[in-house]
Amino acid sequence: MNRIFSGIQPTNQLHLGNYLGALRNWVRLQESTASQPALQKSNVSQPALRGAENFFCVVDLHALTVPQDPESLRRSTREVTAAFIAAGIDPERSVIFAQSTVPAHAELAWLLGTLTPMGWLNRMTQFKEKSGKHREDSGLGLYSYPVLMAADILLYKGTHVPVGEDQKQHVELARDIAGAFNRRFGSEYFPLPEPLIQSEAARIMSLRDGSKKMSKSDESDYSRINLTDDADAIALKFRKAKSDSDLLPDNVEALGARPEADNLITIYAALSDQTKAQAVAHFAGQQFSKLKTELADLAVEKLSPIGTRMRELMSDQAELDRLLKRGTERAAAVANPILRGAQDLMGLVRS
Ligand code: TYM
Repeated sequence: MNRIFSGIQPTNQLHLGNYLGALRNWVRLQESTASQPALQKSNVSQPALRGAENFFCVVDLHALTVPQDPESLRRSTREVTAAFIAAGIDPERSVIFAQSTVPAHAELAWLLGTLTPMGWLNRMTQFKEKSGKHREDSGLGLYSYPVLMAADILLYKGTHVPVGEDQKQHVELARDIAGAFNRRFGSEYFPLPEPLIQSEAARIMSLRDGSKKMSKSDESDYSRINLTDDADAIALKFRKAKSDSDLLPDNVEALGARPEADNLITIYAALSDQTKAQAVAHFAGQQFSKLKTELADLAVEKLSPIGTRMRELMSDQAELDRLLKRGTERAAAVANPILRGAQDLMGLVRS
């Protein structure tokens, strides 16, 4: 049985990178896993995934690895749930839930932590980036973050993990941990999960600096397009986006030396469902300003229905909580027997 698992942290606002790198692909996978798939556009959908089950999780325990304001965390957890649904995840066809409401995630993380060498965690680039110069002061949770992520996936015997490029190393670690468990306990208990990365929009960059990833934690709100930005904010942010003074090139290779042009062309191609080569051909020899104007119009067209739907969903908190509760029950029904199986293999006595 194929199972798709992915998650997003409820920290700040979701942005265009989360949408193009992850969320939009989840929706396409959901469509492609249906027994009667709708017309497919994505290059991540694979016929072998037909009939797979989908689990999409708001990973609130991961959010806690850096300090959070409790009220904001509660609000963001509901907001990210609303974003999943507004972007097209159907809570009937996919399981949507908050990580902390299925305690088996934290329990399996402990068990897997006993099998994970520190050397593997020392290699994780995200920990190095996030802890920076304050390594000694960083919390244990930030260090063991990838073990919890492995537990998220393996708790459902997840086989496919749709993520952006920045999470690839973590999914590979989850594979290594699954392999270590299987070798140690002489079984094929956990499948080795595969990352599914949509190549063209796998890494959307900051609008202020084409060499930095678009990120929820960037201090400047001008660095990203949030899913809830209105049309004026979207147009303003693209207008202010960093650019260079040359005309736009007529070939993809020339973008290699122009990170800001490359990023905006990548976003345009992704939003218009074209290849980068097609987007480059469309803007060849034009001013940067033309790309920015067309991009703003396109982004407003694609994102504003999502923002509007998110606001509607957020206005009925009781309904969102009901949907999350239903998701928790469905997730726990799959997760708990898989945790028990791992406990049995490891020799824990269950009463
Ligand atoms: P998070 O919350 O940082 O990001 C959620 C998803 O968005 C993708 N993403 C991007 N894609 C393209 N360009 C960008 N600039 C960009 N920024 C973010 C991420 O790759 C991710 O797919 N550790 C994960 C959450 C997690 C998880 C899991 C994912 C926890 N458990 C289990 C998969 C399976 C994270 O921090 O994502």
